Amino acid sequence: MKLLHIDSAITGDASVSRQLSAAVVERFKATAPELEVVYRDLNLNPVPHLSGEVLGAKMSGADHAEAAATIAALDEFLSADIVVIGAPMYNFAISSQLKTWIDALAVAGKTFRYTESGPEGLAGDHRVIIASSRGGVYSAPSPMAAIDHQETYLTAFFGFIGIKPEFVRAEGLLLGPDQKQAAIDGALAEAAAL
Ligand SMILES: Cc1cc2nc3c(=O)[nH]c(=O)nc-3n(C[C@H](O)[C@H](O)[C@H](O)COP(=O)(O)O)c2cc1C
Repeated sequence: MKLLHIDSAITGDASVSRQLSAAVVERFKATAPELEVVYRDLNLNPVPHLSGEVLGAKMSGADHAEAAATIAALDEFLSADIVVIGAPMYNFAISSQLKTWIDALAVAGKTFRYTESGPEGLAGDHRVIIASSRGGVYSAPSPMAAIDHQETYLTAFFGFIGIKPEFVRAEGLLLGPDQKQAAIDGALAEAAAL
């Protein structure tokens, strides 16, 4: 059994999503000691931007280092049974580091395909757990829910490739120290209950 652990926060040791994703991974390690864990820190080791040149090289099969790096990221994802993703909300969406990783995953014929009846996800045998952190409160019935382009985007993307992601969430992190601690404690309890 293989677990891929992805972090995408730019906030280093202060990162809440990193703390939560690590707790989720520890939870899986405790229940399956033989688990093989592969770690990728997208802040230190980003997937190259999907430029026109990279896309062209991927489509033509040309020898191209950045295209090869995006293909390696997809292979790393496909080889994992469980994928744990630290996903902070930045500017109402995901970090740009996480976006370039997702761009590497969206490959027709590998993770999805179009059929006569519409798109079909091909990655349904992977379990995805997302450690979500955000300064405000966006969960319904919050009026902020309409501007959540982080969890809604991740749900849509993974749904498109056939996966229903699970969320461990700490929100309201910028609403004061007590609220922050309560949100982190709640999310850590969710991680422990996975
Ligand atoms: C660059 C940046 C942009 C942010 N944008 C938002 C935002 O749009 N909405 C929000 O609720 N919080 C926002 N925050 C607060 C973060 O979501 C919050 O601090 C969370 O803990 C970030 O996850 P991290 O600790 O893993 O970096 C932002 C923080 C940073 C550093």
